Amino acid sequence: MTDNFKQAAAEKALELVQDGMLIGLGSGSTARYFTEGVGRLIADGMKVRGVPTSRATAELAAELGIPIVTELVGQIDLTVDGADEVDPALNLIKGRGGALFREKLVAAASKRFVVVVDESKMVKQLGVGALPVEVLPFLWRLTAERVADLGVSLVVRGGEETPYVTDNGNLILDVTVEGGIKNARDFGVELKKLTGVVEHGLFVGMTDTVIMAGPEGPRMIGRESAGR
Ligand code: A5P
Repeated sequence: MTDNFKQAAAEKALELVQDGMLIGLGSGSTARYFTEGVGRLIADGMKVRGVPTSRATAELAAELGIPIVTELVGQIDLTVDGADEVDPALNLIKGRGGALFREKLVAAASKRFVVVVDESKMVKQLGVGALPVEVLPFLWRLTAERVADLGVSLVVRGGEETPYVTDNGNLILDVTVEGGIKNARDFGVELKKLTGVVEHGLFVGMTDTVIMAGPEGPRMIGRESAGR
């Protein structure tokens, strides 16, 4: 069922694609439905180009015949990506698929950032699950100690013996905040101050629209209706 909802949200986002657009292509299982749809639009004759947020998405886009752009001057017209958690102000946790750094770069370069999710991703407060934090491998244990000093618990993704390595050659710390993340903006700022932290999965004030799908079909939630 969840897969149907993911697909429904992604299909709704395809309605926003227009001829000539430069499109940010997200990562993960929901964004994959969107990228596949863009491939179909191209097969039907539409002219769009894509900026992939991960190697996996770049490979998929190439298979589907979507022209890829990786060097960019100016802005991306529209980016569509998934999320792990969405709060009522449309702030996000992303990165459980490991692509958070490129995802954030692409979202930040976009005129419109649209998030596609199934209803299970909606939360009252971020931090229900772990927050991914990308760190440089060099001296990463010291970085992990600095992060832990913020009063959180953490694990290195994949374990210390065979850690998961991101597309950027970095590691991911999965950070658990007891009781949830009370102020996502402030917590993100604290994390970014720490030497060795490359990026974190809190996307605060970046989302323009969420397309959330459940049994009643896809629903668009805009920045305005979220009270921001
Ligand atoms: C990838 O790093 C993530 O940010 C994904 O966008 C997120 O994990 C959502 O993935 P699913 O669409 O597979 O749930």
